[in-house]
Amino acid sequence: MDKIIVLDMGGQYCHLISRRVRDLGVYSEILPHNTSLEKLILYNPKGIILSGGPSSVYEKDSPQLPEGFFKLISTKKIPVLGICYGHHLIVQELGGKISPKDTKEYGKTVLQIIEPNLIFDTLANEEIVWMSHGDQVEKLPKGFTAYAKTETCPIAAYGNEEKKLYGIQFHPEVTNTPKGNKILENFIFRIANSKKEWKLEDWIKRTITEIREEIGPKNKIILGLSGGVDSSCAAVLLHKAIGDRLHCIFINNGLLRKNEEIEVQETFKKSLRLKNFHYIDAEKLFLERLKDVEDPEEKRKIRGHSFIEVFEKKTIELEKRYPDIKYLAQGTIYPDRVETAATSKTSAKIKSHHNLTLPKDMMLKIIEPLKDLYKDEVRKIGIKLGLAKELIERHPFPGPGLAVRCIGSIEKKKLDILREADQILIEEIRKAGIYENLWQAFCTFLPLKTVGIMGDFRTYEYICAIRVVESIDAMTANFAKLDWNLLEKIGTRIINEVKGINRVVYDISNKPPSTIEYE
Ligand code: XMP
Repeated sequence: MDKIIVLDMGGQYCHLISRRVRDLGVYSEILPHNTSLEKLILYNPKGIILSGGPSSVYEKDSPQLPEGFFKLISTKKIPVLGICYGHHLIVQELGGKISPKDTKEYGKTVLQIIEPNLIFDTLANEEIVWMSHGDQVEKLPKGFTAYAKTETCPIAAYGNEEKKLYGIQFHPEVTNTPKGNKILENFIFRIANSKKEWKLEDWIKRTITEIREEIGPKNKIILGLSGGVDSSCAAVLLHKAIGDRLHCIFINNGLLRKNEEIEVQETFKKSLRLKNFHYIDAEKLFLERLKDVEDPEEKRKIRGHSFIEVFEKKTIELEKRYPDIKYLAQGTIYPDRVETAATSKTSAKIKSHHNLTLPKDMMLKIIEPLKDLYKDEVRKIGIKLGLAKELIERHPFPGPGLAVRCIGSIEKKKLDILREADQILIEEIRKAGIYENLWQAFCTFLPLKTVGIMGDFRTYEYICAIRVVESIDAMTANFAKLDWNLLEKIGTRIINEVKGINRVVYDISNKPPSTIEYE
């Protein structure tokens, strides 16, 4: 299958570039900028995109390409498109000049095309593009032609058709560049001659065949099912591939939303007819261990370790009963596996233990059927495999569950209050028809009591905080500017219907500096 490789120059948009390419129908993967030429060639790319990045190409230690890169692509005739930092790097490497600009150019700009060329084929003479740069091309290497300019940037795009090298100063991958997709399309199809072969229907067929081949006719698989999109899709896919040789383990850690344990069982046991669905009610164990623990990190650790312990115990029991269990499936998806410079900087350090890794000494072989897919691709596949739209479009729910939304020490009583309030919020958000437009909407229990008045009585009860955010990838998020009447309805319902809450507050913090979840 034809592939476009994105080389990561430290930019925050690598995944976005790769996703756009896939949306256009060509498979794309991200590799670090210093990937060896031997490895790069194994991918047999039809074209290479050099991403943007925050550094300046003339700085010491700025990301560079492996030695011999330009010789290799010239011998193999691989077209290259440089974006922003990548656009500078091509120029610098081939003998041109990059200089800092006095003022940075940031935001929407008018691009004037000054020379007809393939990259801008079918575009108008002037187009809006998104710029974000402090450096710019001052002098092009020999054999290169300037294709476009902006008011302050005389060489905003260039090319060398013979060598198939192209550079653009702006970002075609963001929606603020309205014709960005057309530009990428021109590169992928007109210049790199890729074929539109990335089709999810084909992926499903191919993956099912691959799973069958890998597992063989007898072996069995264990999968930890959370009820979230990824593990649910993995379950249906594996079930299609090996039928009842799939064993799913679903653990109720006491930190699930209202009725979640019932709904997940109904979906998988009844609707999808998974025969080997193992439900473990471990609520007591988790809540016992979390009792009186206030520190958020400690809570995460206890939850994580207890999960592994319960999962391991069940796995060992199943392995004894079914000696053919040889594989452990995980719902890992592409962004979990491929850290770009941007994701590795921000992840991990802020909150520990985002996702669990199971012990290395587990004897089972790991199988990750979704490891090459983006979340939106997983969703599309889920729909094709027959999962309900409501399940596919559910907002993300963190692994530690309500533990991160019940501030301070956890008690069943507090969790039950939280579950009731959360259900009302979601019900109203769905009724208002805005659920799908939001990244997440949830309630948080604040262990603070304040005074209120209900009828003729003074009350002294807890506070519930409502958090509703809009986001594209959870790296940044804005609180949703909900309609006041809707907020009023939600607040009133929660106070009237949920015993234990007499005050509701709306969270107006953005990320950064706040995080989406509270702990
Ligand atoms: P924060 O709170 O870091 O959350 O802004 C970003 C996104 O990640 C989700 N989240 C988690 N997901 N395990 C998960 O699987 C976790 O421990 C975890 N903590 C946060 C959060 O819901 C949001 O979508």
